[in-house]
Amino acid sequence: MEVEVAFRLNGRDTRVRVRPDALLVDILRDHLGLTGTKLGCGTGECGACTVLLNGRPVNSCLVLGVRVNGQEVTTIEGLSDGDRLHPVQRAFLQHGAVQCGYCTPGMIMSAVALLSKNPRPSDGEIRQAIAGNLCRCTGYVKISTAIRAAGEELANLPQETGGRGSAGQGERS
Ligand code: FES
Ligand code: FES
Repeated sequence: MEVEVAFRLNGRDTRVRVRPDALLVDILRDHLGLTGTKLGCGTGECGACTVLLNGRPVNSCLVLGVRVNGQEVTTIEGLSDGDRLHPVQRAFLQHGAVQCGYCTPGMIMSAVALLSKNPRPSDGEIRQAIAGNLCRCTGYVKISTAIRAAGEELANLPQETGGRGSAGQGERS
């Protein structure tokens, strides 16, 4: 048996037929070909699968696909404006915050969520925002520097929200 899930994905109306128990991460990667969202632990521990659900970061490995029916989902593929990278993506490159890159999409989605509400976060606020995103490579210093730099750029731009409302299932604290 399959069910239809209809939602806004990266600003576009999207419909997909999936098993009722399909997880959002699998729908994105396997049904829709958006492999920028990574699957790591599959148990809500690593944050590699982080996407925005109504503007809030969630672990998409913990969210049932049917949960996003009628909701708004943003993935790493939805951040750039054509060929122009999002300021957070640019900052990660400029500040050397990417090594193997496996954590990077999830890390960037968490950073985008933080900066959309608070473009000039303290070091503690940055640490808290990415506490659910594990990186085995960088040691986090360059990631924090990149987030701070992107925030400075975004502070001078109109606010981007990436969505509204509450997320619930899979939402990160
Ligand atoms: Fe690790 Fe989802 S894959 S939290
Ligand atoms: Fe390799 Fe973060 S860059 S896990």
